[in-house]
Amino acid sequence: MSLLVERAAAVATPRGSAALGGAAQSALELLPEAVVRCEGPRIAFVGGRPEHDRRFPPPDATLDADGGTVIPGFVDPHTHLPFAGYREDEFDRRLAGETYAQIAAAGGGIVATVTATRRAGVEELVDLTVGRLDRQLLTGTTTTEAKSGYGLALDAELKQLRALREAARRHVVEVVPTAMPAHEVPRELRHDPDAYVELVIDAIYPAIAAEKLAEGVDVFCEKGVFSPEQTRRLLADAPRYNWRIHLHADELCDLGGASLAAEVGAASASHLLHASDDGIAALARAGVVAVVLPGVSFFLRDRFAPVRKLVAAGVPVALATDCNPGSCHTESMPAILAHACLGAGLSTEEALVAATLNAAAALGRADRLGSIEAGKQADLVVLDAPSPKHLVYHFGVNLVRHVVKAGRVVVRDGALTR
Ligand code: NIG
Ligand code: FE
Repeated sequence: MSLLVERAAAVATPRGSAALGGAAQSALELLPEAVVRCEGPRIAFVGGRPEHDRRFPPPDATLDADGGTVIPGFVDPHTHLPFAGYREDEFDRRLAGETYAQIAAAGGGIVATVTATRRAGVEELVDLTVGRLDRQLLTGTTTTEAKSGYGLALDAELKQLRALREAARRHVVEVVPTAMPAHEVPRELRHDPDAYVELVIDAIYPAIAAEKLAEGVDVFCEKGVFSPEQTRRLLADAPRYNWRIHLHADELCDLGGASLAAEVGAASASHLLHASDDGIAALARAGVVAVVLPGVSFFLRDRFAPVRKLVAAGVPVALATDCNPGSCHTESMPAILAHACLGAGLSTEEALVAATLNAAAALGRADRLGSIEAGKQADLVVLDAPSPKHLVYHFGVNLVRHVVKAGRVVVRDGALTR
């Protein structure tokens, strides 16, 4: 089956199979009036129509971009998708002036979602997750990472990851599962956090690995959550399970999380609002992708991550939603791009590279995803916009007109095709 995406104003894409940092963070190529030919799940050709017609037979099907812009499908490298329950009451309290930390200390925050998620049945979690995957796809996300971490006990963590696996089986969005039992210390072990660390290492990780429910691991290294020392212990077995390492680092204060991410060979470090200059230099040296979450800064009315410093230091910056019920309740990568540019200070081109190729690199998939080039998987978004700049410049509306996943049209005229 071949598909030709035609009549685009332009194809806009980064190039290559590795994260782009420093000056290359803005290396978004614009190919005016290019067509994209998909053969099965892969891209066979990107370039001018005349050359296409010389080299290829007529396609089996066409997709009319109608003067829009074609970009790679977004990769969302940090979400907490399989959760139950909402926290709009906390949201109101924050609007009235309470902080995220104050609400968490008063018994809200992550543990509130843990209570709701522990109560939920698997099928309910599957349905909730599928709904979120739908909203991701409708806003242009074709691959997403998703973490556990609202179970905080053996059975509940397994339930979250099994629900995620089932949701992924039912959906076209590619799901990259991450084990995050070390997202918080559960209420019942607050008196002995080290006992929970041991439980995670001795029981929860082995069970997750035995069912092959994760391909990465993440830890919330933060004051009052897991210390750098506990985080080191929690990550020590990652190589044994062949898990990629991610880290929630330096979100609420500088605990040296960025340096720790570099030390343990993490693929990505997220948040980084309070990362020190030394930490940033360490990320650059170790080639760790900085996953910036500007939606969290917006949602919590907090400062933004130091993106200009990260880019200047040569750290490849990726963007993610962090989709979760407490600190950023959105599935929309275009919304995140707007905050990345208007709030944090990236250019549109930098933000697009961050949300595609660099995000794919954060998930170890830059060889296959994140750019529109012959040989890569055909994950494409057709925007109802004459240039990629409109993604930010024309904010707050959904410009995603069509989505192609692995060579198949899965969103047409703004609606799911199934
Ligand atoms: O990435 N920082 C820790 N975890 C989430 C928040 C989860 C929640 O509030 O439920 C985050 O922001
Ligand atoms: Fe997170």
